[in-house]
This record gives sequence, structure tokens and C-alpha cells, in this order.
Amino acid sequence: TGHFTYDPGFTSTASCDSAITYIDGDQGVLMHRGYKIEELAASSDYMEVCYLLLKGELPTEEEKTKFSTDITYHTMLHEQLIQFFRGFRRDAHPMAVMVGVVGALSAFYHDSTDINDPHQRMVASYRLIAKMPTIAAMAYKYSVGQPFVYPRNDLSYAENFLHMTFSVPAEEYKISPTIARAMDRIFILHADHEQNASTSTVRLAGSSGANPFACIAAGIACLWGPAHGGANEAVLTMLEEIGSVDRVQEFIAKAKDKNDPFRLMGFGHRVYKNYDPRAKVMQETCHEVLDELGIKDEPMLKLAMELERIALEDEYFIEKKLFPNVDFYSGIILKALGFPTSMFTVLFALARTVGWVAQWNEMMEDPGQKIGRPRQLYTGYAERPFVPINKR
Ligand code: CMC
Repeated sequence: TGHFTYDPGFTSTASCDSAITYIDGDQGVLMHRGYKIEELAASSDYMEVCYLLLKGELPTEEEKTKFSTDITYHTMLHEQLIQFFRGFRRDAHPMAVMVGVVGALSAFYHDSTDINDPHQRMVASYRLIAKMPTIAAMAYKYSVGQPFVYPRNDLSYAENFLHMTFSVPAEEYKISPTIARAMDRIFILHADHEQNASTSTVRLAGSSGANPFACIAAGIACLWGPAHGGANEAVLTMLEEIGSVDRVQEFIAKAKDKNDPFRLMGFGHRVYKNYDPRAKVMQETCHEVLDELGIKDEPMLKLAMELERIALEDEYFIEKKLFPNVDFYSGIILKALGFPTSMFTVLFALARTVGWVAQWNEMMEDPGQKIGRPRQLYTGYAERPFVPINKR
């Protein structure tokens, strides 16, 4: 019954109009509001990219100052949320904590949930962008048993996050400009990526008129999976498992084996059938960070580069157009910066929040907006008579 297009995985279904992000997967091009990601990564900063995604244009100096001030105004969490954190087992995965705490914001900020008021939508968006680093850093602090560190509004977005994560009462974390710049660039590279699974989840959740904080929690849940944002964590676990360059061939063979479920994590993409432009910037940033930290011959980087070299020459990967994606090199940088593997996807969620809220706002502004409601091809039984329990 019905006349539907059957498209599992939505490989060829456009779910919306959007003016935010453009991807040409064959050419390996990614642009936000018409600006190439490479240029944004080289010349812009995360606050500017946030403004661009949310508002459609790069800010003037004045607009940027106001925007940064407005964001920093919201960096603190309600003090009562600390109790909410303490309710988690301390060995909880930080992504589980993120899903819970961000969802719980909906119970704290009632005033910014009038989703029909564009101003209140912006307030909710600013709150989310501002509070994500605080929540992410607290998730980390809680897992290592250190006291929570409050935000510092005199620092940049990336610097403040590094401070809240790595400072302890006994010693303030010394922020190197190169490291802060690398952190900021990682945020830029993850800021938005059009209708990926988590963004589509946020839009679908939001399409019913749901609370924005709850919608973002839904996005975080979706991002967690290893086929999506969880891949950055999975890459490092994989590199650790491979262990040394002489075992690369063995794992390439496993990835190619149809009977083996193993996949090369950080490789392949639904849309990119070419080198992911974000992966290139990430690789350069990786070298910069390791140089700055004086890490020579990092075995993980060597291993990753060898894995990439062999995969890119392999017929299987060439034929299937499998290239490194954004997650391939990010883990190596994050590890060098001192983040435990379990925090990698949290950082992705932090940075992607602006994309989620920008897309949510765009949807809410769309006069043709409808609840998202896919159809199905029913494959179950036709009508049959009910059988009483004693006759089954
Ligand atoms: N290693 C080995 N084979 C692969 C891989 C891989 N990483 N990725 C895809 N293939 C094969 C796959 O087996 C399939 O082969 P066949 O046509 O013979 O059945 C073919 O390539 C197409 O794969 P698919 O799963 O149908 O493609 P998809 O568009 O549904 O999946 C993907 C895209 C990203 C989920 C997938 O490439 C994958 O699982 N990659 C590893 C996880 C990963 O790195 N994810 C991060 C994605 S990028 C950013 C993000 O979202 O975080």
C-alpha cells in the first residue's frame, strides 16, 4: 500500500532545504555558507565559525566582540547540576554523562524553551554553545576524580576549555598558543557537516516541537556510535590493537575480508568519495601539535601514516573509494594533548553543537516545516484471527 520511495539509510533522500553547509563528496569539498573549510581552518576561529553558521555571515569586529561576550555570559552551569553529575557512577562513559546532563538542561532553563520565539531560540542556542565546554570538562573531571574547574571568561573558547579540563587547584594549566590554536581548529573542523545522522536526529526530534536541550541530547546519543562520532575513539583503539607497523597488512586484509566484520576505522564516508578535506587539515595540525610538544617519532602517527599509505594503494580501498575521514587523525592529536580516549567523542559533540543548533534554528524558521515522519514498507503478517492464550 502507498507509493513511497524505499531508501533505507537515506542514501538518496534529501530531507530538507538548507543554506548552511555544502559538500561535494566527489571533489572532497566542504563549505560553510560558501567559505571553504580549509580557509576557515587557516584564517578564522571557532567563535567566528559559530557566528557564521548561526547567522549566515562572518561577523564584523563589533559583532564578533558582542557575540563572544554573549556566549561567555552563559558559560556557567546552574550550581545544582553538580549534584546531577555526582549521581553518575564515576566510571561512566563520558558520552553517557553528556547525554544525561545536556538532556537535564531542559529541566533547568525553562525560560529559553519557547521555541516559537526566535529570540528565545537564540538564547537556547547560545546557552548550549556556551555550556558544552563546561559540561564536557566536568565530565572529564568527574571521571578522574578531580575537582570541577569553573569557566574563565577572559580566555578564548578553546583556551577556557583546556583550562577547565587540565587545570587543578594546585596548578593552573599553562596554555600554549599553538595548542590552543590546534584545539580551536579541531572545533572548527567538527562544527557542522550538513544532514549527517546526528544532525538529522536533532532535526527529527525538533520537528515535533520538542525542547531544544532534549533535541541536542538526542543528537549526542546518535553521535556516540562508532559508525559516526564514536569513530575517533575507535581509531585509537584500533591503532593500539594493531600495535606496530609490521601488522598493518594483516589488518588491511581483515578489513577487506567479507566474512570479517572488522572495518578500518576512520576510513570511508557516506558522502566523500575522495579525501575528506577535514582529514587533510587534521593531519597537518597533528604534525604541528607533535612538534610543539616535542614528540618525535610518535609511534601512533607513524602507524596511522603507514596504514593510510597502504590503504590508499590497495585495490579494495581504491575501488570502493575509501579515504581517511575527519576521525582518522584527530585521535592522535587529542591523545597528545592529554585527553583520554573516552573523551574524543565528547569533543566532537562539543564542537558539533553549533551545527546542531544552527540546523535546528533553520528548520524552525522554515515556514514549510513539518514533523519528520518517514513511511515504511510493511513486511509482516496480513490480518489473522486472534488466538486465545490456551490455544497457542
Ligand atoms: N573498512 C573496510 N571496508 C569499508 C569501510 C571501512 N572503513 N567503509 C566501507 N567499507 C566497505 C563496505 O564493506 C561496503 O562494501 P560492499 O559494498 O562490498 O558491501 C562498501 O565499502 C560501502 O560501505 P557502506 O557501509 O555501504 O557505506 P556507508 O555509506 O553506509 O558507510 C561509513 C559509511 C562511514 C559508516 C563506513 O565507511 C564506515 O563504517 N567507516 C568506518 C567508521 C568511520 O570511520 N566512521 C566515521 C565517519 S566520518 C565522520 C563521522 O561521522 O564521525
